[in-house]
Parts: sequence; structure tokens; C-alpha cells
Amino acid sequence: MTTNPVIEAIKSRRAIRAYEDKPVPGSAIQTMLEAATYAPSAINVQPWKFTIVNNKDEMKRLSDIAKPALIRMLPDVGDEGLIGLKKRLADPNYNIFYNAPLLIFICGVKSQYTVYDCSMAAQNMMLAAYTLGIGSCWIGTAVGLANDPKIKTQLAVPEDHDVHAAIIFGYPKGGFPKAPEKRPPKILKRID
Ligand SMILES: Cc1cc2nc3c(=O)[nH]c(=O)nc-3n(C[C@H](O)[C@H](O)[C@H](O)COP(=O)(O)O)c2cc1C
Repeated sequence: MTTNPVIEAIKSRRAIRAYEDKPVPGSAIQTMLEAATYAPSAINVQPWKFTIVNNKDEMKRLSDIAKPALIRMLPDVGDEGLIGLKKRLADPNYNIFYNAPLLIFICGVKSQYTVYDCSMAAQNMMLAAYTLGIGSCWIGTAVGLANDPKIKTQLAVPEDHDVHAAIIFGYPKGGFPKAPEKRPPKILKRID
């Protein structure tokens, strides 16, 4: 199989949920933001805008607001994964941002393709981070919170924008775990 630095980064990036207590340097944040801006976007609109939370206390505050709302949202019955998640959310020590030192929200003006554009930007950021030795994890459980009108204002997200991604970054405690084999692509049909 062909490999090169891009393929290597794609295959080695992992969702990181344990971080060293070490800040992400401003230069690395700048590199990740610039990588985001090189993502493709529908009609080249480049709709992404970012809110940067470089403060663990603020992240803990946001996590503590999100947790009870998430518990209320989740169904009462479900599989092991759901029960485990509900238990974690009820634990006062559980932080949905895993005590990472940095959180970046990506938002864009409400429009048909913005969710895709912002997701592309998010992946660019996570891959760029990996190449700098920085781990990341997309925190889907924070997106509902970030779109709450009161929190949106606190995050300086304009009313006519939606937050599409919340991503944490930081140096992985114990390094990057080895990526497990992924399922092979399911090809439905080949039309040659
Ligand atoms: C849209 C989206 C939402 C996610 N939300 C969460 C989340 O709320 N909490 C979390 O720990 N991981 C979250 N993840 C990370 C996934 O769990 C992770 O990417 C997946 O298990 C595969 O692992 P890998 O990224 O190491 O390959 C999310 C990933 C995506 C793409």
C-alpha cells in the first residue's frame, strides 16, 4: 500500500482523551487555524469562524452546564454504551472536554453547506495538530450546548450562525495510541 506523510497522518491520528497539563503554543494554534482555512468549501465561501477557549476553568464551567442537559436528552433505556455514558455524565469529576488545555469551536453562517465546510476545516485542524505532536478529539456532546442562545452569546457566535464542531487539543498523555485496523471500505458497486 502506498504511504507518504499525509497518508501516515490520516492513519495515525486518534481521538485523544487524556492530556498532559501543558498548554498548546500560540504558534501551533495559528498553524492549525491556517490549515482549517485551506479546507475545501462549497462555492469557496470559506464560512468558518472560530472561538478559542484556552482556559481550563472556562471549559470545566461549560462541561458542567452541558452534562445535566445531556442526561435529560438521552433516552432512559439503551445499550451498554449509552448506560456507560449516562453514568459518566452523572459523575461530578467527569469533564466532557477531558481536561484538555484547548477547545476550539467552529461555526458558520446558517446555510445549506456550512456543516460540511466546517467539518472539512475540523479534519484539517485535527490532522495538522497530529503532525505537530498535538492530540485532538471532536466533542459532539458540546455542540448542543454551544448552540444554546445564551452560551452562543458568551462564545461570540453570531445569532445567524450555527456551531458545527467543538474540538479539544493538547499533548497526549502517554503519546498517541496505535490506531486499530479500521473496517475495509464497503464498495456497493463498481461501474467501470
Ligand atoms: C461528529 C463526532 C462527534 C464525536 N463526539 C465525541 C464526544 O462527544 N466525545 C468523545 O469522547 N469522542 C467523540 N468523538 C470521537 C469519536 O468517538 C472517535 O473519533 C471514534 O471513536 C474513532 O476513534 P479515532 O478517532 O481514534 O479513530 C466524536 C467524533 C465525531 C466525528
